[in-house]
Amino acid sequence: MSWFMAAIYDPFMRKTEEACLRAWRGELIGELRGAVLEVGAGTGANLPLYSHAVERLVLAEPDRAMMSRLQERLGGVGRRAELCEAPMHRLPFEDGSFDAVVCTLVLCSVEDPQACLGEVRRVLRPGGKLAFIEHVCDEHRFGRRLLQRGLEPIWKPLAGGCHLTRRTETAIRDAGFELTEVRRESLRKALPMLRASVRGVARKPA
Ligand SMILES: C[S@@+](CC[C@H](N)C(=O)[O-])C[C@H]1O[C@@H](n2cnc3c(N)ncnc32)[C@H](O)[C@@H]1O
Repeated sequence: MSWFMAAIYDPFMRKTEEACLRAWRGELIGELRGAVLEVGAGTGANLPLYSHAVERLVLAEPDRAMMSRLQERLGGVGRRAELCEAPMHRLPFEDGSFDAVVCTLVLCSVEDPQACLGEVRRVLRPGGKLAFIEHVCDEHRFGRRLLQRGLEPIWKPLAGGCHLTRRTETAIRDAGFELTEVRRESLRKALPMLRASVRGVARKPA
C-alpha cells in the first residue's frame, strides 16, 4: 500500500499543484531562512522552492517508499539536505534547533496531531516559524462536511490514514502557536472532500 501511495502521489496531485498548490508552497517556503526542518517531506514537492537563504535543510520522512522518491528528487535538484526517517511525534533534535519547520499536507495523516505539534514547538527556537498547508474539515459548507464525515471511514484506510475532518487551525493554536498569517481557500482541482484548506505561518512565542 505504501509503495502504491508513493507511486500515485505526484500524478494524483498534479492538477491541484498546477491550479494553486505549487504557488501556495512557493509563497510560504521561498521566504524561509536559516535552519529548516521539513516533516513528512513525501516525494519532495517543496524541495525546488527552498532559497539559498536556507543554510541547513533537514527532510524527515518515515515512509520508506516516499523516502526513496524523496532521495531521487533531491539528486535531481542538486541541493544539499540531511535526510532522516523520524516521524513527526518523535523528532531526534535538540530543543530550539530550527528557525522554521515546514509541514504541508501531513497533519491530516498523523495519529496524534497534538503530540506532533508539541514536538514541532519543542524543536523550534523561540520566535521560530511553522509554515503549513493542510486540507481540513469544511466549516462553512454543511453539505461538504457531511460528505467528509461520510467518506472518512472509507477514505482513511485507502489513503494512508488521511483524515478528512481535522480542525488543524484550532490544533495549531491549542499547541501554543500564534497564527500570524492564515489563508483559507479551496484547493482547486482536488477531490471535493479535500478542497477546504488552511495555510499560513504560526510562530512559537518568543
Ligand atoms: C499527503 S503526503 C504529503 C507529502 C508532502 N509533505 C507534500 O506536501 O506533498 C503525507 C506525508 O506525511 C507522511 N507521514 C504520515 N504520517 C507521518 C508521521 N507520523 N510523521 C511524519 N510524517 C508522516 C507520509 O509518509 C507522507 O509522506
